[in-house]
Amino acid sequence: MSLVYDYSNPTAIHFGKGQIASIVKHLNKNNKILVVYGGGSIKSNGVYDEVSSVLEGYNWQEFSGVEANPHYETLNKAVAICKAEKIDFILAVGGGSVIDGSKYIAASSLYNGDGWDFLDGIAKVEKAIPIGAVLTLPATGSESNGSAVVSKKATNEKRFFASSFVYPKFAVLDPSVMSTLSDRQLANGLVDAFVHTCEQYLTCPNTSLLHDGYAETILRGLNTLAKTWDNRKDPVWEENLMLLANQALNGFIGSGVKQDWATHMIGHELTAFYGVDHAQSLAVVQPQLLRVMIEDKKEKLAQMGENVFGIKNDNEAVIVAIENMYHSVGVTTNLNDYDSVDDKVIENIIPSLKAHGMTAIGENQNITLEISEKILKMAMQ
Ligand code: NZQ
Ligand code: ZN
Repeated sequence: MSLVYDYSNPTAIHFGKGQIASIVKHLNKNNKILVVYGGGSIKSNGVYDEVSSVLEGYNWQEFSGVEANPHYETLNKAVAICKAEKIDFILAVGGGSVIDGSKYIAASSLYNGDGWDFLDGIAKVEKAIPIGAVLTLPATGSESNGSAVVSKKATNEKRFFASSFVYPKFAVLDPSVMSTLSDRQLANGLVDAFVHTCEQYLTCPNTSLLHDGYAETILRGLNTLAKTWDNRKDPVWEENLMLLANQALNGFIGSGVKQDWATHMIGHELTAFYGVDHAQSLAVVQPQLLRVMIEDKKEKLAQMGENVFGIKNDNEAVIVAIENMYHSVGVTTNLNDYDSVDDKVIENIIPSLKAHGMTAIGENQNITLEISEKILKMAMQ
């Protein structure tokens, strides 16, 4: 099979210490800027002060309180501000939730209907207020991609939309802002980036000499960070996580090749119902999904075994190596380890997958609701 793809990543990257100052290269004094952030981590680590001082003399206001797994209900308050104040630039300062939330705000503010229509898939984004991002938590790749995941509290739904209109115009990736991240957030970032790479790589063989080699470089890099977990407060370790997580989901390694994303689709439902962190949901689903789909994925599991973990001819051992990697950074692979999880997992998650059209997922669209149920049951053993 030869490759066919369209690829464009328009986000300018400003990488390294001191790069927050670069945001003004993309702004002018006539802009009406809304700075969007989360629960206050940026106030305790100096990022808010740095952004405020760079924006001195610019016309800006702020919107705070965007939650982890951002709520539609909260984001709509910012949409009302953008509409009333005629905001023409949004600066997201935070992790994936703040950046995703800003994408929703940017698109919904120029839309006449309810922004949830984009998440429901009944409307397509046709325009959006331009966004810039100052990343404070490397994990999702949201800083230079066109996807956003938003949760609706009222209905326990967590859904996504993607649009070329919501790519950030620029992203500042300054690893020195990572020093205040907890072990849990660092581990989540590592696991999320690893699973993003797998969703685009661990499918079926392709003919490109570039895509797989690039994906394997990212996977080996993340595995090295897990093995050197004790050095996680070292600036070089932090810098590497920021590099790897960004490249894992900026769209290139998935271009023109089959993609899976079933782990993410099932994981999103677990977060919606049980509040487990995004990466925590992935770590419980992915290993069991790989076991159930081991026949479909046998060539790529074998390739990953050899090129990432140094394991030959033993695909179960590759899955165990992935699990051990997650355990080594403190992330469990058993759903029952989370106190919020009750005995209604199947009765909650399966109908919700069905309602969201997730009845034939994975790279071959052969993960049915029955298979998702089997995966979830295995994740609880
Ligand atoms: O809200 P604040 O106070 O900023 O605290 C946050 C939050 O509590 C904190 N944090 C962020 N930077 C920090 C920091 N704490 C200390 N120091 C810093 N420098 O970390 C907590 C978690 O932040 P969040 O943004 O929720 O984490 P993450 O970046 O992992 O984003 C997760 C969200 O992104 C979605 C997930 O589903 C989830 O909603 N995803 C987005 C994707 C995309 N747009 O492409 C793809 C992913 O697969 C994922 O689904
Ligand atoms: Zn993810």
